[in-house]
Amino acid sequence: MKVLFLVWGFFQSLGFVCSLTCVSAQDYVCDYIPNDYPPGLTSLVFFVRNVGEINSTIFNYTSLSSVTSLTMRQSGITAIAPGAFAQFQSLESLNLHSNDLSHITSDWFIHKEGLEKLILINNSIAALDGNSFAGLVKLSDLNLSHNQIHTITSDCFSFLPGLKHLDLSHNKLRHLSVDSFIPLNRTKIAVHGNPWDCSCTVYEFSLFLRELQTASLLPNEMEVLCMSPAHHRGRPVWNVSKCVNPTTDVVFTTGNSQNITPGGIHLSTVISLVVVLCALVLVICVLSVLYHRKQEQKHLLTIKPLPEEQEHASPGQGQAQPDFQAMSGISNRLESISCDHKMKQSNNRLLLKLDQTVPESQIYQIYSTRIFQTER
Ligand SMILES: *[C@@H]1O[C@H](CO)[C@@H](O)[C@H](O)[C@H]1NC(C)=O
Ligand SMILES: *[C@@H]1O[C@H](CO)[C@@H](O)[C@H](O)[C@H]1NC(C)=O
Ligand SMILES: *[C@@H]1O[C@H](CO)[C@@H](O)[C@H](O)[C@H]1NC(C)=O
Ligand SMILES: *[C@@H]1O[C@H](CO)[C@@H](O)[C@H](O)[C@H]1NC(C)=O
Ligand SMILES: *[C@@H]1O[C@H](CO)[C@@H](O)[C@H](O)[C@H]1NC(C)=O
Ligand SMILES: *[C@@H]1O[C@H](CO)[C@@H](O)[C@H](O)[C@H]1NC(C)=O
Repeated sequence: MKVLFLVWGFFQSLGFVCSLTCVSAQDYVCDYIPNDYPPGLTSLVFFVRNVGEINSTIFNYTSLSSVTSLTMRQSGITAIAPGAFAQFQSLESLNLHSNDLSHITSDWFIHKEGLEKLILINNSIAALDGNSFAGLVKLSDLNLSHNQIHTITSDCFSFLPGLKHLDLSHNKLRHLSVDSFIPLNRTKIAVHGNPWDCSCTVYEFSLFLRELQTASLLPNEMEVLCMSPAHHRGRPVWNVSKCVNPTTDVVFTTGNSQNITPGGIHLSTVISLVVVLCALVLVICVLSVLYHRKQEQKHLLTIKPLPEEQEHASPGQGQAQPDFQAMSGISNRLESISCDHKMKQSNNRLLLKLDQTVPESQIYQIYSTRIFQTER
């Protein structure tokens, strides 16, 4: 590499900057993408800008079949067509540091079985899946540091039995299933610099990290830190102990509107369902209490008819308004009864409260005027 930069410096000092040239040194260095290559090249380095998409014709030259190492740093590559590297039959190392790739698939290559090193540092990759590295059986060094990765499917590393270094540092990972790493065998895995969510579900991952740590396979272990929930922020993920009280974390995740996760949404729906259910139970309690009251009153009515005055008071304006006032008085009281009490208990309390708040005659007035009237 040193030689490379010396050569490049020499180039620039001679004022060749604007010309389209390739220099053959330890590496074959080009400042444009040429239309032919000398045979027998092994290492190819481009200093080019704003490449955009690498389509399937740009590197369609049979003379590239001997190239083992291809480097295109900071070249403005935004996409790579399937089969774009088809002519690189001997490729062992691909370095696409600091480009603008948002997607990775092993379909870029036709000869997948030779690739050992893949460097995609500082791109915009957001997700990895089963197609990303399928067939790259010899891959030993994979650097995805400084991307935007937030999702990794569990089949992602299934085809990488020889992976020695996996760098996922400085991405956007919050959760990761331990299943993703099952196929890996003694791989050094860097996961620092991600905004890890250390809610209760992290425990399995935390144990996994502890195993890596014990085997010295977790680089920068002091930088593998929790971002959320707030009470775990800044704590090493591998140091998070098993949740004693799962509800504590539930409250934290749902309370933090900035970090609502799929899990958090799920929890909040569950909570609102529970609340609705409680409300329903309460309403049923009230109705059944009222029903029983009514039955009781009906029974009393047949024995002891109401005095004349009260009969006169209720018709006209009294029919709707006092009913409503009394009802709202009752419901205000009812709101204070919390839903987590046993049904029986709340039934009893309800009866008690009803007795305290509304005089017998009023209850009678509320719930039996109509019946009384029709009876009359
Ligand atoms: C590939 O890109 C080059 C220039 O970037 C262009 O000349 C060529 O037509 C493109 N080929 C296809 C198949 O799009
Ligand atoms: C590659 O070039 C050959 C001719 O050299 C041509 O027949 C073939 O269609 C090209 N392939 C692609 C994918 O452009
Ligand atoms: C990341 O890539 C961009 C260009 O895509 C570049 O400007 C920036 O300097 C790179 N950052 C690092 C840390 O390499
Ligand atoms: C991956 O790239 C980063 C950034 O350049 C570097 O610090 C790290 O050491 C690399 N990881 C491996 C495993 O080489
Ligand atoms: C894991 O790798 C070691 C060498 O590092 C090898 O001896 C062993 O067979 C591998 N195990 C599996 C299950 O691939
Ligand atoms: C790990 O957790 C224990 C308490 O659970 C704490 O005392 C210790 O300081 C923590 N270690 C680190 C490195 O944070």
